[in-house]
Amino acid sequence: MTQYSKEDIFIVTGASSGIGYSVAQKFNELGASVVAIARSVDKLTQMKNSSKYPENIFIESKDLGKNIDELPNFVKSLKEKYGKLKGLIYCAGLDYLKVMQILDVKTSKDVFDINFFAPVFMAKGFADRRNHAPNASIIFIASVAGVYPDKGQTIYGGSKAALIAAMKCISKELATKGVRVNSISPAYVETPMYLNNFENIGTNIDEYPLGIGKPADISNMAAFLASEDARWITGQNYIMDGGIF
Ligand SMILES: NC(=O)c1ccc[n+]([C@@H]2O[C@H](COP(=O)([O-])OP(=O)(O)OC[C@H]3O[C@@H](n4cnc5c(N)ncnc54)[C@H](OP(=O)(O)O)[C@@H]3O)[C@@H](O)[C@H]2O)c1
Repeated sequence: MTQYSKEDIFIVTGASSGIGYSVAQKFNELGASVVAIARSVDKLTQMKNSSKYPENIFIESKDLGKNIDELPNFVKSLKEKYGKLKGLIYCAGLDYLKVMQILDVKTSKDVFDINFFAPVFMAKGFADRRNHAPNASIIFIASVAGVYPDKGQTIYGGSKAALIAAMKCISKELATKGVRVNSISPAYVETPMYLNNFENIGTNIDEYPLGIGKPADISNMAAFLASEDARWITGQNYIMDGGIF
């Protein structure tokens, strides 16, 4: 696995919990600097303090659903504060598992803000050649719900399908600019998001041939996709589902 130096700077959103927490710690363990973004400073601090090299984790508390049109400037400000960026791994996300009859517009738009518009406008900022290092990489955490949506996933699945489509498009726009763009679409992974919805999900975890996922399964894949070993891979959506689909 690629080893990084602290001059290799990765933005990780959703770093306070679940998959993003694991991604932040994985890149830290590989020697990179991590700009860890979420709203909860307490949880980010806990993640930093339990990482291998806490001095290489930099906490930025931010609500990514507010002032989305300012997110490209936010990325620019991170570049100015920490240096040119090697990667953006967008893990923040909101679920919304409700049947169509009880959907409301406000919540639906909030979900699209975090799951679709924020990653796209973070990527817009990252794509500015003044902000990223050579051979850089963007990874979006999407979901199998964007490919194989189930009942109750009209908005959540729609937001993730939109993100996967955007990933493809952005990968083509950035291919000649030294930025690869991919997404990972997990099925159920044991995180607070999954556990909070356990009763609504109705998925029989015994049906997963390899069991449900662990956050480290996803962070290992993100580490590979960001590495030089993946230099010929862009525009791909990787389904990680323990064999369920
Ligand atoms: N777990 C699964 O089974 C599963 C399956 C498929 C896809 N996914 C996707 O994987 C990603 C991570 O999910 P997870 O299971 O790790 O969820 P999680 O444990 O609930 O973590 C969600 C993260 O998103 C951050 N976040 C939420 N709203 C935010 C906002 N407005 N501004 C900034 N940060 C915000 C949270 O931080 P704060 O609350 O501190 O802001 C938290 O760090 C999501 O995109 C999810 O859709 C998860």
